Amino acid sequence: VGRRVRRRMGWRRVLRVVEELEEVCATPVDRLRQVVDAMAVEMHAGLASEGGSKLKMLLTYVHDLPTGNEKGTFYALHLGGTNFRVLRVQLGGQRSAIIGHDVDRQPIPEPLMTSTSEELFDFIASSLKVFVGKGDDVSELSKMGKRELGFTFSFPVKQISFSSGLLIKWTKGFAIEDTVGRDVSQCLQQALSRKELDIQVTALINDTVGTLAVGHYHDEDTLVAVIIGTGTNACYLERADAIIKCQGLLTTSRDMVVNVEWGNFWSSHLPRTSYDVDLDAESPNPNDQGFEKMISGMYLGDIVRRVILRMSQELDVFGPGPSKLHVPFILRTPLMAAMHEDESPDLREVARVLKDVLEIPDVPLNIRKLIVKVCDVVTCRAARLAAAGIVGILKKIGRDGSGGVASGKARPKPGRKIKIKRTVVAIEGGLYTNYTLFRVYLNEAMAQILGEDVAPYVIIKVTEDGSGIGAALLAASHSASSVVDTV
Ligand code: GLC
Repeated sequence: VGRRVRRRMGWRRVLRVVEELEEVCATPVDRLRQVVDAMAVEMHAGLASEGGSKLKMLLTYVHDLPTGNEKGTFYALHLGGTNFRVLRVQLGGQRSAIIGHDVDRQPIPEPLMTSTSEELFDFIASSLKVFVGKGDDVSELSKMGKRELGFTFSFPVKQISFSSGLLIKWTKGFAIEDTVGRDVSQCLQQALSRKELDIQVTALINDTVGTLAVGHYHDEDTLVAVIIGTGTNACYLERADAIIKCQGLLTTSRDMVVNVEWGNFWSSHLPRTSYDVDLDAESPNPNDQGFEKMISGMYLGDIVRRVILRMSQELDVFGPGPSKLHVPFILRTPLMAAMHEDESPDLREVARVLKDVLEIPDVPLNIRKLIVKVCDVVTCRAARLAAAGIVGILKKIGRDGSGGVASGKARPKPGRKIKIKRTVVAIEGGLYTNYTLFRVYLNEAMAQILGEDVAPYVIIKVTEDGSGIGAALLAASHSASSVVDTV
């Protein structure tokens, strides 16, 4: 009897863990609107002065997005969070004429993420060399003349020009100290010469900027781009006069793409749990990338692992033996998604992940159901916060139907006729493209925040390999026109 009573009490405590999680993670529309406002306010602050906000609002020196007239063969390298890609893109000189592109994709070997600059860049250069060797026939090469490459480097960079910039800090688990503060474009260029590759790095861009370039290439109403993958971030096209911090610094005053680096966004309105606090404290970059740690693929699985660990401390059905629940990042987000989207009545996939990955066999069905609930709460919060971030940007550029932050106009009453322009948001990243429920929750939250009058004018479009192809497109569009303005 004693055991049965203990079980019942334990079961109640486990339920309570999940209920508490649900309460703290709740994101009703009012709260999301507060996040929207905070995002727009922080964007203003980050544009006003250097260091004025946790949002870096980085200059990109991209004034012109590809027009569709780009022509020729260009290379691109994309160093993301998990994968590394090499591309060759053939452009045909008319819109929608990306004639073809070859991609070589491979996971970044984990030791390289914490090695030295030279090792990382040598690896990149070697992969490029193999790829180039496979594809170029000699006759084509002689036609191409000097080969040009766009480098997509998915980390925060203080650009010096369109083709060069200094690494501000690493994110997403990378930690190579000697790269911080160095010109990553030069690091790559030097590695290319070490490998005797005669290729010029002519563009250095963030992955969000590549996505925007491709989005805009296919649809001119694309003004915002978002990545939700291993990490998360956004960029958008900003008016020259709004970028106050660079007035007087640039030789031209033209609109420019701004890299928001929203992964580092923070606001007291964000629903933060003790699991988030612990995850942050134990991460290699505490107090950094707070928004990213609640939203992106690198972290969601680990939040869920922490909650299951907490549940296991309340009830002995998780077994007496040692499990892997204490191992950080063992529950990767794709596994979490597989549990979340398990449609079998007896939750077979959940049982499999618990047994094979976390080494907890025989978890009863009612607990497995609770685990699915935990995945749901964590993903729902992430997707809804990302949606609020997107609407924050739309608000900053006056495309959310509210008349923009600066005008201070009240939100128009439902049903009232408003004039609003079509705006496309290009989106990319495994979390959005591969995780159906994440996508559903994000789209649903966008519609709720924007309301039925405005929502139809905001279109989310997935681009494919945009962050890589975009670099080639931008290298192409800047190959003819010389870039004049530098700080
Ligand atoms: C991280 C990087 C950012 C990148 C994003 C998505 O947040 O800091 O530069 O765009 O991940 O890959």
